[in-house]
Amino acid sequence: MSNNRVLVVDDEKLISWSLAAMLKKEGYQVETAASGKEALQKFECFKPELVMLDISLPDLNGLELLKRFKAANEEIYIVMMTAYANADSAVQALQDGAEDFFGKPFNLGAIKHVVNRAFEKRRLKKEVDYFRRELRKKSDHDKLIGNSQKMIEVFKMIKICADTDAKTVLITGESGTGKELVAKAIHYHSARAEAPFIEINCASIPENLLENELFGHERGAYTDASKMHKGVFEMAEGGSVFLDEIGDMPFAMQAKILKAVETKRFRRLGGQEDVEANVRIITATHQDLPAMVRNGKFRADLFFRLNVMNISLPSLRERKEDIGTLVQYFIETLNEEYGRNVLGAAPETLEHLARYEWPGNVRELRNCIERLMMLEQEKILSAGHLSSEIRECGQAEQEESPGVIRSDAAGEHIVLPASGISLEELEKLLIQLALRKSGGNQTKAARYLKTSRDTLRYRMKKFGISDGTREEEGSPYGGDDAAAGDPPCSNRLQGAEWS
Ligand SMILES: Nc1ncnc2c1ncn2[C@@H]1O[C@H](COP(=O)(O)OP(=O)(O)OP(=O)(O)O)[C@@H](O)[C@H]1O
Ligand SMILES: [Mg+2]
Repeated sequence: MSNNRVLVVDDEKLISWSLAAMLKKEGYQVETAASGKEALQKFECFKPELVMLDISLPDLNGLELLKRFKAANEEIYIVMMTAYANADSAVQALQDGAEDFFGKPFNLGAIKHVVNRAFEKRRLKKEVDYFRRELRKKSDHDKLIGNSQKMIEVFKMIKICADTDAKTVLITGESGTGKELVAKAIHYHSARAEAPFIEINCASIPENLLENELFGHERGAYTDASKMHKGVFEMAEGGSVFLDEIGDMPFAMQAKILKAVETKRFRRLGGQEDVEANVRIITATHQDLPAMVRNGKFRADLFFRLNVMNISLPSLRERKEDIGTLVQYFIETLNEEYGRNVLGAAPETLEHLARYEWPGNVRELRNCIERLMMLEQEKILSAGHLSSEIRECGQAEQEESPGVIRSDAAGEHIVLPASGISLEELEKLLIQLALRKSGGNQTKAARYLKTSRDTLRYRMKKFGISDGTREEEGSPYGGDDAAAGDPPCSNRLQGAEWS
């Protein structure tokens, strides 16, 4: 509380002194002023968040000061005091934005209550602003990218989970596969999107603090508990709680989580009564929970409860066709972040990326692109700066089969075979690549090829790339523009990304 600043303005020394003493005891930083002029000066340099303001000052009228303070800082709280209380001045003060109004002599306890309440309001407002900002940030930036059929299945599940509000969701997958992004996508596409999304990492909080973090405590629950404290289950009221690394949840806590999930109620530490919890619980782990259940490390009943809705994220090596799109996406976002203008990765670079196995999944790929962008001064990311681990991966295999056309794993590269390739074949390939990049949207694909949509359709027909349907088995893109080609799960899904 030591950062909360209060300015007491009163020419009666005894009043300023007793107010200042009481507020300091409460933990506030306090300054006093005995005149309007002094108050204006202190307002400038001390920058109070709350002012206790007497109406009758020797030089200026307190009501006038109130207006000036409010004009300078709309968010300031002002509590008026006067020895000559009358309805007019009280109404005027409240109309001009005072938080409260006290006649002298006043009860110090009542003032303390008003000041504490004002700062609590301020804290809550900051929290709400923070969540609003987060909400905007998340929906602007944290996009889930993927064209592969496997990711399309994930997108469909996100949609189902977002729509079925009551159920707990378990997200599984190796580290770096995007579990956190999926949790956020579920929340921000659900009816709870405007309420908080609060994340808690069960692995990083010591066991003895976890219950406090989750459920909060009552005042006096233990020696240091001077105030009631809300846990994340209460802070996320109406929204979602994301229990990350649920596999690391201590066994004893698992029973409490199960109770909260089942009854939608929980108890604060030291509490006598249950509190209702209106939250959706989303959980994630990279661990093998069924194996942990078999080994007695995770409660079977909790596992079954969490596993009702399960989203299992594929590793990056199982969906290498997404690498090209992901690389392009990371280049674009990093360009923005670092004010760069990198255009793309060289075909040879993409080949290496496609051969590598990515044990750290998408996170490792992002870090790799970031590193390349730091090291590369040119506009195309060349293979020279790749780590030796990535460069050497699958090298021998590659050398045995040189000169093939590849538009597969890395998504967007063509390697001219030694035996040559006809321009027609190349054209067909480019059309396929453009369609893949556009998520099947023909207008966008035509734009990539700097041609008209009619020309594109004509050529698709000519090459037998079917109109609005899949060209090849397992192709991730659906086909036509919005009318015919919206992916099956949602109109928000735009082929390559879930935003
Ligand atoms: N499909 C995706 N599209 C775009 N970015 C992704 C995707 N999947 C993961 N990322 C990026 O990879 C990084 C790791 O993602 P995230 O933190 O969601 O992984 P995780 O599965 O929760 O990993 P861990 O188990 O280590 O916590 C983040 O920078 C995220 O933005
Ligand atoms: Mg994570």
